[in-house]
Amino acid sequence: MKPTFPIEEFRSLQTPFYYYDMELLESTLQKVSSLLSAHDDWHMHYAIKANSNPRLLRIISSMGMGADCVSGGEVEAAVEAGFQPQSIVFAGVGKADWEITTALHHNIGCFNVESEPELLIINELAGIQGKKAPVALRVNPDVGAHTHSNITTGLAENKFGISKEQLSDIMQKALSLPNIVFRGLHFHIGSQILDMADFMMLCNRINELSSTLLRQGLPVGDINVGGGLGVEYEHPDCFPYANFEGYFDTFKRHLHLPPGSHLHFELGRSLVAPCGSLITRVLYVKEGIHKRFAIVDGSMTELIRPALYQAFHRIQNISSSAPVTRYDVVGPVCESSDVFGKAVDLPQCHRGDFIALRTAGAYGETMSSQYNLRPLPKTYFSTDFKFV
Ligand code: LLP
Repeated sequence: MKPTFPIEEFRSLQTPFYYYDMELLESTLQKVSSLLSAHDDWHMHYAIKANSNPRLLRIISSMGMGADCVSGGEVEAAVEAGFQPQSIVFAGVGKADWEITTALHHNIGCFNVESEPELLIINELAGIQGKKAPVALRVNPDVGAHTHSNITTGLAENKFGISKEQLSDIMQKALSLPNIVFRGLHFHIGSQILDMADFMMLCNRINELSSTLLRQGLPVGDINVGGGLGVEYEHPDCFPYANFEGYFDTFKRHLHLPPGSHLHFELGRSLVAPCGSLITRVLYVKEGIHKRFAIVDGSMTELIRPALYQAFHRIQNISSSAPVTRYDVVGPVCESSDVFGKAVDLPQCHRGDFIALRTAGAYGETMSSQYNLRPLPKTYFSTDFKFV
């Protein structure tokens, strides 16, 4: 079996860097494509915010998937990477005028609109270009997903979407505006969701809402259920794929798609998280009074998830099989929260050992920063190395 990491090749590289297992990415995309191919009216729009590395984007677009964007920059990156403009959807509570204009210029497939004032501005800017803007209304379904409170979005108290109570008024408005074409409804309940009951709840809410709209003589159009499928951070090698079967099956069994409507998904994390790792080197092992620190050259500026969400990433010493010792694995940034893991059992660490932070392909590279004037992380791809 091929080793997970080409350690010998890593030795000549400067750390920290992101390493992407392209075989895993491709097999994941193939799995998803084949599950989707059973349904002519189901479409995937990859959520670019999870990872917008141009090389990954090219591979994802070449699989025929669409893109879910949340900024003008993402729309441009999607077009550049070969996503068909018609397959691009554009969400976000605060789309700036230039972003709307850019998206209109590219003739994207759909604006996911989150408020009435936004709808009016899109109508106005579309008029200036002599175009009709395709629009879905993002509804806040008031479904609480079992995930970290910073990444739930579907609760009434969140800033996202239009409440069910205000929907029919805003929809009437959308139908009456000259430069708007109503395309459907958009939902998203949160991220890193592992309990399929949350998605089942979303289906039930959508079913109730579409029957209410149809009873009122209003259209439903296409349904976009957003993203949110979680991945297994604890055991990356045992579960390299998210539960795509269970996820799609939940929608197949519980969502009543009105006749003629298409179903859209916006998965991000589950497509790219498992294939990425942040590779760092041990700089120093420091003996504290009560604990031992492995100080590595990677930090919260390359991978902020542990500092920001107390997120867990499996930490492995991939260059040693020495007996295990317990460490706090910390980065060099001047913040006490620059800690990748506390009380982590690792093969005894020495200066120069390679430490991998696994399942970092989603919201890793895209959330990196230059705080402390650190350089942005480089990236390497498994297909560029000869495994020995
Ligand atoms: N669609 C919408 C409208 C979204 O807001 C998101 C993610 C997605 C799709 C993709 O969701 P996914 O399939 O990746 O769960 N930075 C956080 C995650 C933020 C998610 C934001 N929205 C983290 O590192 O966990």
